[in-house]
Amino acid sequence: MLEKINALREEIASATASGPEEVEQLRIKYLSKKGAVSALMADFRNVPADQKREVGQKINELKTFATEKINGLKDSFAVAEDASLDEIDLTRTATPGVVGTRHPLSIVKNEMLRIFASMGFTIAEGPEIEDDWHVFESLNFPPDHPARDMQDTFFISRNPVDVLLRTHTSSVQTRVMEKTQPPIRIVCPGRVYRNEAISARAHCFFHQVEGLYIDKDVSFADLKQVLLGFARQMFGPETKIRLRPSYFPFTEPSAEMDISCDICGGKGCAFCKGTGWVEILGCGMVDPNVLKACGIDPEVYTGYAFGMGIERITNLKYKVKDLRMFSENDVRFLREFEAAH
Ligand code: DAH
Repeated sequence: MLEKINALREEIASATASGPEEVEQLRIKYLSKKGAVSALMADFRNVPADQKREVGQKINELKTFATEKINGLKDSFAVAEDASLDEIDLTRTATPGVVGTRHPLSIVKNEMLRIFASMGFTIAEGPEIEDDWHVFESLNFPPDHPARDMQDTFFISRNPVDVLLRTHTSSVQTRVMEKTQPPIRIVCPGRVYRNEAISARAHCFFHQVEGLYIDKDVSFADLKQVLLGFARQMFGPETKIRLRPSYFPFTEPSAEMDISCDICGGKGCAFCKGTGWVEILGCGMVDPNVLKACGIDPEVYTGYAFGMGIERITNLKYKVKDLRMFSENDVRFLREFEAAH
């Protein structure tokens, strides 16, 4: 009897099947009521009493073994049965993964930096949490200048020195000039903060790119040429610029620059309020007081600086009407810039 059991076990162990039907035949052959294992059970009656215990155990083991073997074979065909190779179209294109898009402000910032890099400017960055010296005092702001007021500046602490969120990236000028002697030719991108009520046209944070060039014999004409080159690369070769006199504490003389309105081509429209021009930046020759404060000799060196808002340039390029769109992370808005990068 024990020999029979062992022989059957070996037979089952080596059984193979090439499809689910053959597995079913194996099941019938070994495990059905008329199968080989059941036949052993029937023979069990004739086993001498003193062997019953051992033989019974072996038969049970064999039954378990056969059941597991057949279930295993069944499982191996189950997958192929669910989706047989004939039904899978291996030539179909896969579902593409969702790829994120670059933020419009990053697209425009990168383009601005690329243009300035082509003119020899390198990138400098500074901290967003600053002190009064770097944001105001070194840049020739009088002590009672309104920009220092609680209205505009987010102060973090006022003791022992004023610590605040920078209101412009001009602070990076000071940081670089303090550590480096001319020639200096940098652009400084970054986020700035102002205590403004949030609306379509104002936000409590936005982004700027600051530019600074200090060397011997730098003139206003150099400034004008660099800004013209920038405007034409950014907005197209037909773009015109004009400079209007203005005032900033850290430049003398100071100017604001307009570009010809590219919506109406300079004829005047609602966007440029009928003037044909739109303002894009502030600029000027670095005030000698600023050079002096940063340890650069104004008798030897001169320089120019300019600063502009990345949101403003982005609005002009992509006609975004509401500033708040830039920080709401609405993917329907962000996806519109898919083709732009
Ligand atoms: N810092 C100015 C602002 O935030 C922008 C600016 C104007 C920067 C004139 C300059 C400049 O470097 O020369 O409004």
